[in-house]
Order: sequence, then structure tokens, then C-alpha cells
Amino acid sequence: MMWWWYWVIIVVASLCCVGAAVVLGGRKEEKEFSVGESTIRRMTRLAIEHGAVNLSQGFPNEAPPEALATYGAGALLAGESEATAVEAARKLPKRGDPRDALNQYSFPFGAGCLRRAVSGYYERVWGQRWEPETEITVVLGATEGFAATIRALTKPKDVVAFFEPFHELYPSQVALFYCEARAVTLEPRADGWRFDPRKLDAALRGARLLLYNSPHNPTGHAFDENERAIVARLCAKHGVTVVTDDIYEHVVFRRPHVPLSTIVPRQSLVVVDSISKTCKATGWRVGWVLADEKNTAKIRAVHDQLVACGPTPLQVGVAKYLEEVTAAALNEIADDYAPKRDCLVAALRRVGFDTGPPVDGAYYVFASYDNVKPIKNMSPLDAAMYLTARIKGACAKGRERVRDFLGRGRTTTEMALTSVHLKSHNKSTQVAAVGRHACCVGVTGAGPGL
Ligand SMILES: Cc1ncc(COP(=O)(O)O)c(C=O)c1O
Repeated sequence: MMWWWYWVIIVVASLCCVGAAVVLGGRKEEKEFSVGESTIRRMTRLAIEHGAVNLSQGFPNEAPPEALATYGAGALLAGESEATAVEAARKLPKRGDPRDALNQYSFPFGAGCLRRAVSGYYERVWGQRWEPETEITVVLGATEGFAATIRALTKPKDVVAFFEPFHELYPSQVALFYCEARAVTLEPRADGWRFDPRKLDAALRGARLLLYNSPHNPTGHAFDENERAIVARLCAKHGVTVVTDDIYEHVVFRRPHVPLSTIVPRQSLVVVDSISKTCKATGWRVGWVLADEKNTAKIRAVHDQLVACGPTPLQVGVAKYLEEVTAAALNEIADDYAPKRDCLVAALRRVGFDTGPPVDGAYYVFASYDNVKPIKNMSPLDAAMYLTARIKGACAKGRERVRDFLGRGRTTTEMALTSVHLKSHNKSTQVAAVGRHACCVGVTGAGPGL
């Protein structure tokens, strides 16, 4: 009988050890996240909340020099060139009241008006409620949104998965924060760029985050319902948090965008978004991160220490725009790009590029140049250089796989080209239209042609 009790004691003791390890491990993880909100900006935040005179943070009550504000406004209104901006500035009215609040530091997590406007926009456009006070953080574009999120939710050596080919910020930031990148390849099929669910399953094993971008740069793939369900199921299976990159949410051609946030539970989800592409304002650096309260607190702390706050006057502008923008105006974004995409694809095909599966969204064409005579034997970088220097159409070098990014392996003969610069789709003006920036090689008549 006695031996039986020994076993009970051993099992209970082992369970206690495991429990203690989990608790201590958890504490250790919390301790490792040592970044906190700045004390100075915390006082500013509280001063705003309580209507107190703010003697805690150094910023003036007076407006910046009038010339500075006017030249800035000139650039906002007539940004074609520095000369047009100055010309427009000179026509602007003189400043009246010299008092100022909107050219100074704003609330670190985002001007209240913008967080409320983002919340309203999600409710109206995507039918989702995000709390401005606890779940929305204004950041400097998706780029800072990713940096703050990856830093806040990982520790060194954590695995971060994403699809390849990829936007270079993913592996760069993963490396920046000492994490390990793991990629799942999207392969071109007749009906779209597809991934193997078994490979995604394997990549997510032990991973901390999945970075998910749809519509996808650079393939233009928009993940369909079945793919979204697989992504959500496998992330849940492996306890992985999904960070969605939704910046092309309004550049969709074949079917409406459905955010992954409709099926992933909030505690395992971070949404990164910005006005860069939606508002054609990539230089404004205004974006936002949506997450549950717990993750938001961590992300805000990193954001606060990294950048203090977003540009205040621009946040005020974005807030008003998001409040007012109509569904029709948002739909026009894709209508504007679709003919440009068609023009680019047709021109590329004419000179032998394989433009792959139909482009669902975003404004990229990911083309293979195996059959494009002058460049077919070149490396992607040499081919990109050739097109830039000889044909006067710059493009991004081809498919980069994680192993290529890390300096191993071999790239394939593909390159990413953007149709965003095409100014016109009218056939007769096509030659001129593509001459300036875009990569419609062979139709420009410039250079040796392909
Ligand atoms: C997929 C993707 N994510 C993020 C970014 C960066 O966006 P933002 O300008 O908002 O920082 C880009 C920019 O081209 C992109 O293509």
C-alpha cells in the first residue's frame, strides 16, 4: 500500500514543479518586456485628460514661424515640385490668431480626434468596433506599426513567419529585433498565388507571429475565403498571433476585401493599416495599429519611446478626411488603378514577360523574365539595373526568398513592377504615359527596346 502513496507524492510534486516553472516563466516573459510609457508624455496625457496646465513637457503655446507653416501647406496643396509648392504657399492667406495647439506634440497614442475617426471608419466600412481609448494607436505608417508590434510582442529568437515573396520590411524588421524569420512560399498557379497548408502548418509550429498581407505585395494576390480560414485555423492551432497588413484594402480588383480580423479572435490579432495607399499620401506617415487592450498597452509603450507621437497637423487632417470619406470614394481607388494594371500587364506580355496569375489587388505585377531576350540570363539585380538604366523603367529586383535575403540560395528570374506610376491608360497616350516612371519596357520606344 505504501508504494502507492510514494507515487502519488512524486506525481503531485512534479505537477507543482511544472506549475511553478510556468508561473515563473510567465513572470520572466513579463519582466523581459521592460519598455514602458515615457513619464513626461504620461503627464502630458494626464494633463489633457484632466484639463490641467501642462508644465511637464517642453512645447510652446505659440505657433511656429508663419513662413514654415505656409510653405508646408503649399507643399500639401501643390506637391508637384518644390517650385509649385512655393508658388502655392505665396497665394495662401496670412495667419490670423498666433496661438497654437495643433503644431505641437499630440497625445502619444494618437490625437483623440484621429483615434475616434479611425474607430468610426472601421465601424462604417468594415463593420467592426475598435475602442479609441484602449485599442487604437496612431503610428508613423505601417512601417512603424510593424516595428512597434514586432518589438512589443516578441523576444529575441522568437520565430516570425510570413509569406514569400515579401515586402522587404518583414525580414528586415524581424532581423532588427533579433527574431528568426520563417517563410511560406506562394507559388503561381493558374487561378492565383497559392500556398501549401502543410508548409504553413510546419512554419507556424513554435512561431510567435504570422505577418499576413492581403492584397499582397508583390504578387497582387488576395487571399480567398478558404485560404483565410486555413490561416485562422492554423494560427489558432499553434497559438500564433496574426499581424495583418491591410494597407491595400481598397486596391482590390476581383472580389471585395475581407479583413482577416473578421475571423481571428481579437486577443490573437493585430491590424496594421495606414493612409499611405488609400489616400495616396505615402509621405504623410500616418497609420494605426488595432489590437486588444493588453497588446495595445505593450505596442503603445514601444511606439511612445520610439517616436513620441505622430505629426499632429496631419493627424487632424486625416481625422476629418476619414470622418467624411464615402464608400463611393473608396471604391473609386481600385477603379482608378485597374486600367493601369491592365496597361502594364499587356505591355509586359507583349515583350515576353510572364505576368503570372491574374492580379487580384495592390498595384504590383510580379513578372518572370525567362523569355525576355536581353535580360533572360541576368540575375534579378542585374536585370533590374538594365531595365532602369537602358529602358528607363525602374523596378524592384525579383523574388527574394528568406534564404536569399540572408545571403544564401539562388533567386529566380522574377521582378516586381508597379503600375502605380502609370498616368493614363488611353492607348494613344500609352507611350508617353509609361515613359516617365513605369516599367512598361518595350512600349516606351526609349532605349534599345526588348
Ligand atoms: C506590404 C506593405 N506593407 C507596408 C508598407 C509600408 O507602408 P507605410 O507607408 O504605411 O509605412 C508597404 C509600402 O509599400 C507595403 O507594400
